[in-house]
Amino acid sequence: MSSQSTALSNGAKSVTGGQPDGNSDARVVYGDRLRFVPRNILVTGGAGFIASHVVERLVSRYPHYRVTVLDKLDYCSSLSNLAQVANRPNFKFIRGDIRSHDLVLYVLQEECIDTVLHFAACTHVDNSFTSSILFTENNVLGTHVLLECARQYGKVRRFIHVSTDEVYGGESNMETESSILAPTNPYACSKAAAEFICRGYVKSFGLPVIITRGNNVYGPHQFPDKLIPKSICLLAQRRPCFVHGSGEHARNFLYVEDAASAFDTILHCGETDAVYNVGSEIEKRNIDVVHDIIDLFGLSAEANRHIEFVKDRTLNDMRYRIDSSKLHALGWRPQVSWEEGLRRTKTWYCDPNNLKRWPNYLSGLVPHPSLTEEKH
Ligand SMILES: NC(=O)c1ccc[n+]([C@@H]2O[C@H](COP(=O)([O-])OP(=O)(O)OC[C@H]3O[C@@H](n4cnc5c(N)ncnc54)[C@H](O)[C@@H]3O)[C@@H](O)[C@H]2O)c1
Repeated sequence: MSSQSTALSNGAKSVTGGQPDGNSDARVVYGDRLRFVPRNILVTGGAGFIASHVVERLVSRYPHYRVTVLDKLDYCSSLSNLAQVANRPNFKFIRGDIRSHDLVLYVLQEECIDTVLHFAACTHVDNSFTSSILFTENNVLGTHVLLECARQYGKVRRFIHVSTDEVYGGESNMETESSILAPTNPYACSKAAAEFICRGYVKSFGLPVIITRGNNVYGPHQFPDKLIPKSICLLAQRRPCFVHGSGEHARNFLYVEDAASAFDTILHCGETDAVYNVGSEIEKRNIDVVHDIIDLFGLSAEANRHIEFVKDRTLNDMRYRIDSSKLHALGWRPQVSWEEGLRRTKTWYCDPNNLKRWPNYLSGLVPHPSLTEEKH
């Protein structure tokens, strides 16, 4: 494999590594950093929460990239999440299931995809206790089909597999990317299983995979069956917030724009065959999250009236602490404070127009959501 470098007018240097199939893997050096430059990106799950922000960012900031979203439009997703980019010439939406081998291979070939950002998954831990097979089908089999199609297609230069901090399990250790995976709930186990299949494709076939393991993300576009948007929607209706068990369980929270900038950094500067933790230093117990939201509504004088303690999850990990110094070394840091992120999130969910995108959103405002026929 040969490589050439060319000076660019803006002071950057373009490095082109020849691939065995004759395709070029364009990289650009800025300062002392080597940046991968994608051309045609496939984003799975792009009509969901986090990926819709990533798509908005990529389509708007990089008009020379073509972004194709593949999403089956599950109950938690909405095309309205992509409204800001729907008419951009470098954006395309395809409704479909990542478990369909023929469809995925067709999309890779037809769109000349060189980069995959794989977000699509079933994501609610509560649902995974009642419908765990669905999690295996979508998260494990779905990932496997994508990887196999990428292998057969042979022209994917970067495959970013989006995983979660939950794969480490709920111990109090500070987990680094080399910590042992010890997932506990069916959702986390399906995400860990998908990671291992990725590993098989890296080691056996040399597929250029990057894995990310992220903390909890919050902000606009998240279906309100998760703690923060659910509590805001309940309080807006003057109903009490549900707190699982004692409320002592803690999570680290990252505002969604910071998550999107992390994926931007990893896409361009991450190393293949590497794992990156995507963490926040904002750790909050569930009960404190709810109190902070009650404060924002100006209801703290009678806070206890606005909280209903409900039975705990079947299994509830205590906390997830991850060390993100590897990602910090690529230049990424979260920018949005907890107060600012929560204020923006409350404003967004308190606009009834924003909730119309999920005709079924009231089904999320229950103590323990489960997947019912009405959601599908
Ligand atoms: N939300 C978080 O706090 C968080 C934290 C860490 C990691 N993650 C990971 O990030 C990714 C995105 O999470 P999110 O919270 O934005 O999810 P989400 O539930 O909002 O969206 C998931 C999207 O995937 C789509 N999808 C699911 N199965 C599919 C299939 N078989 N084919 C095509 N599309 C399918 C859904 O329609 C939906 O649009 C997931 O992989 C999740 O495990 C999320």
